[in-house]
Amino acid sequence: MDEVSYNGKVFEIFITKDDIKAMVSRIADEINEVYQQLEEDIVLISILDGSFIFMADLVRHLNFDHQIHFVKLSSYSDTESTGEVVTILDVDKDLEGKHVIVVEDIVDTGLTIEKFYEMLKSRQPLSIRICSLLSKPEVHNDIVPIDFIGKEISPAFVIGYGLDLNGLGRNLEHIYQLKL
Ligand code: IMP
Repeated sequence: MDEVSYNGKVFEIFITKDDIKAMVSRIADEINEVYQQLEEDIVLISILDGSFIFMADLVRHLNFDHQIHFVKLSSYSDTESTGEVVTILDVDKDLEGKHVIVVEDIVDTGLTIEKFYEMLKSRQPLSIRICSLLSKPEVHNDIVPIDFIGKEISPAFVIGYGLDLNGLGRNLEHIYQLKL
């Protein structure tokens, strides 16, 4: 499918499943490079819902022992950020003295990552790094450094590969961008 439509909005193909696959494998190589020699515990925290597919694909490329946690944060309504981050499912594990990698689907305004980063710091992990499949630098202006990025994109809304419009489109195997 070259185009899909949800809620009267038309999306066109933007990143194909083969390109996504290559991106995930390249990100995993970069993460392996940094973490494979470390002796302390390593924890990957996936921010639900959008990152569930990326997380599942990513961890299968990692070649060091790690634990996996999920948190659920929300800031979005329709195609706009509400500006407020709500914690729906919190980190219920001890992070003290552990290396933490946060896995996000997309950094848009950066508000979610900024708030979550501050929350994580209070749990006294040894290190925190951010990994995001997509990033919109023109929107967030690098308010929080992203250590591992799949692709930097323009501000237009995207769906597919876990990303949704009001809950729909997560199952699409390619990533689609809103047609302007
Ligand atoms: P931020 O707090 O503005 O950086 O937004 C973070 C969250 O908003 C992401 O984890 C996504 O769930 C959602 N989001 C932001 N941009 C998009 C988009 O283009 N498509 C789908 N979801 C998005």
